[in-house]
Amino acid sequence: MIALGSDHAGFDLKQEIIAYLKEKGLEYKDFGTFSRESCDYPDFGEAAARAVVSGECERGILICGTGIGISMAANKVRGIRCASCSDCFSAEMARLHNNANMLAFGARVVGGGLALKLVEIFLNTEFEGGRHGRRVGKIMAIEDR
Ligand code: RB5
Repeated sequence: MIALGSDHAGFDLKQEIIAYLKEKGLEYKDFGTFSRESCDYPDFGEAAARAVVSGECERGILICGTGIGISMAANKVRGIRCASCSDCFSAEMARLHNNANMLAFGARVVGGGLALKLVEIFLNTEFEGGRHGRRVGKIMAIEDR
């Protein structure tokens, strides 16, 4: 199950992501927003992030205007490693090296074609582990200090 969240700026692109997930037969849960009406991205970033840390969803995808605000909000939730990416290399490395459990991007930054590519990479790349496991462990240990 993939958690989705966006604000009004990301609403239309989120519909494109939903169509892509449906086409691939991938299950998702949309935590809103559900219209283009102006709203506050932290509400939806947090809701989707909580579904990821609870285990209800394995990974999450977040969209706002830039990808920045909604990723900042998600990263405040204990256990979340949300990477805001606007290129394929970063999306791949976010999984390989950082074990990102959420991907964010900006609907005012990336087009639909690139967004779908970022999603595909994020969902199909596995964490390398090894030395990167130690480093990610150190990131997560910061939450306990
Ligand atoms: C909304 O106008 C915009 O600020 C928001 O979508 C996002 O880009 C914030 O980081």
